[in-house]
Amino acid sequence: MKRVVACLAASLLASAAAAQTVKIGVVNTFTGPQAMFGEMTERAFKLYQKLHDKDLPPGVKLELVSRDDGGPNPDKARQLAQELIVRDRVHLLAGVAFTPNAMAMAPVATEAKVPLILTNAGTSVVTTRSPYIARFSFTIWQSCVPLGEWAAKKFKRAYTLVSDYAPGHDAETAFTQGFKAGGGEIVGAVRVPLQNPDFAPYLQRVKDAKPDALMVFIPAGKTSTSVMKAFSDLGLAAAGIKLIGPGDITTDEELPNMGDVALGVTTVHHYSAAAERPANRRFVEAWKKEYGAASTPNFAAVAAWDAMDAIFQVVRAQKGNIDPERTMELLKAYRNADSPRGPIAIDPETRDIVQNEYLREVRKVGGQLANVELETVATAVKDPWKEMQRKK
Ligand code: PHB
Repeated sequence: MKRVVACLAASLLASAAAAQTVKIGVVNTFTGPQAMFGEMTERAFKLYQKLHDKDLPPGVKLELVSRDDGGPNPDKARQLAQELIVRDRVHLLAGVAFTPNAMAMAPVATEAKVPLILTNAGTSVVTTRSPYIARFSFTIWQSCVPLGEWAAKKFKRAYTLVSDYAPGHDAETAFTQGFKAGGGEIVGAVRVPLQNPDFAPYLQRVKDAKPDALMVFIPAGKTSTSVMKAFSDLGLAAAGIKLIGPGDITTDEELPNMGDVALGVTTVHHYSAAAERPANRRFVEAWKKEYGAASTPNFAAVAAWDAMDAIFQVVRAQKGNIDPERTMELLKAYRNADSPRGPIAIDPETRDIVQNEYLREVRKVGGQLANVELETVATAVKDPWKEMQRKK
């Protein structure tokens, strides 16, 4: 009898293990001008899963439950996060393109103790809003301080134009700090509406001020192409003004839509699909094999790829039984010397990513526009804003 019970218990345990499904609630932007975030993230998650499913413990499965927040929409994002936790019973949350949405989801993650793995949302302050957040994307400060320092060596007078919301404010402050520290002068700063901006009147003002360079931050996607075209149409390039910014303004997947007006635009960022690193070559090749030669992974794709690598580690280490505290400990210890973007790690103090920043220029490679990496301008960069707060 004892043996029968033991056998039964063992087989029940085995079937419980066999039915072990880790559910990941993905909140992202799948519609509107920034719809690429949803598509890039989903494609990267699915490609990673397809290539690595065999690495999961026997019987453990991952299930993505994806929801569209439709753009910068904090109330909607909060509601989706709550539904994913309460109704769908997800073990982890992931994704989030827009900072305001991540800010709205942070208290939900804290209250429910559900780790939130960010694949975009780059305003520095976001990770301070919940101990359950780990960020696999970037901070705007990481790219804009080195951009400002580099720009000060080339230009005397710069103007800034940013979207009027938290990431834009970060870009303006971080660039200005780097540029001024290098001896540059900011001759004007303008903030444009986040949604449906008409760039023409703002760019006309910039043109009249005759700066050497214009630093732009807007959310990557179709808006990158709008600002690039307006810059050219209004004759700023012809007037000798150099367009610079973080990589959001020359996002890899939009380069074919921008056309030659993007040639020569210089940016600082952590990822380019054109990077020569072998890990990146393999990543881009696998991507194109899966999604076709016309599809190019961008910085949102690499964030999701690395985030899924971390999720796999977390799931493997816990054999599919997700404990939130243990998950956060594992995420804080995450590192990868060979990401497509170079070496990366999560800073255990801040739960932000530590990564290199590259200077890039849009050039033609094999007849196609590409963000060609020219040099590594900063290595193993921790979020400069948090480093600054620490020293205060
Ligand atoms: C953000 O809202 O944090 C954000 C959105 C799009 C970007 C970068 C940052 O390209």
